[in-house]
Amino acid sequence: MANTLILAFHPNMNESRVNRRLLEATRGMADVTVRDEYVLYPDFAIDVKAEQRLVEDHDRIVWQFPFYWYSSPALLKQWQDDVLEYGWAYGSTGDKLHGKELMVAVSAGGAGEKYTKDGEFGITVPELLAPMRATANHIGMTWLDPFILPGTLNLSDDELEAAAGRYAQALGR
Ligand SMILES: Cc1cc2nc3c(=O)[nH]c(=O)nc-3n(C[C@H](O)[C@H](O)[C@H](O)COP(=O)(O)O)c2cc1C
Repeated sequence: MANTLILAFHPNMNESRVNRRLLEATRGMADVTVRDEYVLYPDFAIDVKAEQRLVEDHDRIVWQFPFYWYSSPALLKQWQDDVLEYGWAYGSTGDKLHGKELMVAVSAGGAGEKYTKDGEFGITVPELLAPMRATANHIGMTWLDPFILPGTLNLSDDELEAAAGRYAQALGR
């Protein structure tokens, strides 16, 4: 199992039902480190060097977040803009992420059938993750199958438990 760093981006994890449960599923897993980024950086002043050191120390990075307007909460975008520096993440000497794995774990309030070409949103979740996938390609990371949990607005407790189990399984690979 890869040495995994889960960077969780939820503006209020305490009030989260889904993302909090997903993180609980990773508790006790060897080689998994979890960071609640909004707690660490409530003012968006990201400690770039600390984040880079942590990323360097792990083989697999997970960006976990709820969908906000078909994208991530703003702090993940800030994290990308600040942490993925020229000369570190990209550019002729920017090879620090090469060969590492990137997994996106996203929860979405909208039902799965809405995230289809002919559905209400007219676009799939993997299509919406294209900028992140392109980022992974740009910085030499291996894009893993994303963990996608749609329909969270109507998710039963049993369905959430099952999803938590699938998440732990995906991370354990
Ligand atoms: C500001 C905001 C924007 C949201 N945008 C979307 C969206 O674009 N698509 C969607 O499916 N759900 C959207 N949602 C619903 C969240 O994704 C959903 O509440 C979340 O996945 C539930 O996870 P949690 O219990 O960890 O908060 C949005 C919620 C908020 C508060």
